[in-house]
Amino acid sequence: MDPKKVDAVVLVGGKGTRLRPLTLSAPKPMLPTAGLAFMTHLLARIAAAGIEHVILGTSYKAAVFEAEFGDGSKLGLQIEYVFEEEALGTGGGIANVAPKLRHDTAIIFNGDVLSGADLGELLNHHASHQADVTLHLVRVSDPRAFGCVPTDGDNRVLAFLEKTQDPPTDQINAGCYVFNREIIDRIPRDREVSVEREVFPTLLSDGLKVCGYVDTSYWRDMGTPEDFVRGSSDLVRGIAPSPALTKPRGEFLVHDGASVAPGALLIGGTVVGRGAEIGPGVRLDGAVIFDGAHIEAGATVERSIIGFGARIGPRALIRDGVIGDGADIGARCELLRGARVWPGVKVPDLGIRYSSDI
Ligand code: GDD
Ligand code: MG
Repeated sequence: MDPKKVDAVVLVGGKGTRLRPLTLSAPKPMLPTAGLAFMTHLLARIAAAGIEHVILGTSYKAAVFEAEFGDGSKLGLQIEYVFEEEALGTGGGIANVAPKLRHDTAIIFNGDVLSGADLGELLNHHASHQADVTLHLVRVSDPRAFGCVPTDGDNRVLAFLEKTQDPPTDQINAGCYVFNREIIDRIPRDREVSVEREVFPTLLSDGLKVCGYVDTSYWRDMGTPEDFVRGSSDLVRGIAPSPALTKPRGEFLVHDGASVAPGALLIGGTVVGRGAEIGPGVRLDGAVIFDGAHIEAGATVERSIIGFGARIGPRALIRDGVIGDGADIGARCELLRGARVWPGVKVPDLGIRYSSDI
């Protein structure tokens, strides 16, 4: 199938609640990952597949996307934006972009997925199976947080079970679908619709041809702090593919204008943002340090995200935590196991242990 005759639609209207407090200031797809707004990796992949026209379905913090990507020409794309005043859900978001579609086939993406799936192969699979809709499917160890999608021996989708506690298979919706235009026109307009809970089950009960395309390439939903940290580390180390990253990859990535004192240890796919300062004796293991953050002497940051301009005091320990923009963590504090600190909050020195939200 000619990728130039396919529209790409990226759903980016969600609030990114599971990544709060980072998503209080930036929408999830715009959070920095390996030095670039996350969406850049997805858009570069779309461009590399030869697709030219992209529509972003926005709602939460919509203006940030256009400010960053403009008309898309820097990425070799033509990008348009469609805004939902009230978020319309994933299905409503797809229906809402219909007036901007130029072609008979659209490829829809969740905006928070890091994946190496071959988009050309997915499109060809859709065409050769003469499907109405084709879903990219992957296998995961715990399918309960996703849409569970059993298929038969001919790749026909049998059911779509969104976030079920008792999934019949480990095969899940990878958040990328090919839709024939007339199927998009069947989605109810101007009201909230879930593609997962309403559109897919209705298409199946109406007997439409919904196919699955299963592959084993890299795949990760970046929606939780654990996955965000892991996906960022995988990008830095070259485990996750991205056509937007052209330099050789390694154990860490330090951006322009950052300073790292001698004797600091950076491992595990750590990334240090622009203008950040890393003190002597600091240990960063799988750390995501946003621009302008300061990590002071002897502190340790493991598998954690440190927001824009935050400060981590001397000999503090942050493990599996999320520190909001501009927060100030005192000397010797220990923030462990899912601890989250809200933007601008000051945690005093003392070495107190916290493992809940502050
Ligand atoms: N335009 C628009 N409007 N976009 C939305 C809306 C909306 O109302 N609600 C959510 N989105 C966007 C989000 O910004 C995100 O990029 C994408 O839709 C998916 O939303 P998530 O909130 O990340 O969903 P999820 O991760 O819980 O589940 C979805 O993705 C899984 C794979 O990553 C589902 O599609 C699952 O079935 C799937 O397995
Ligand atoms: Mg998600």
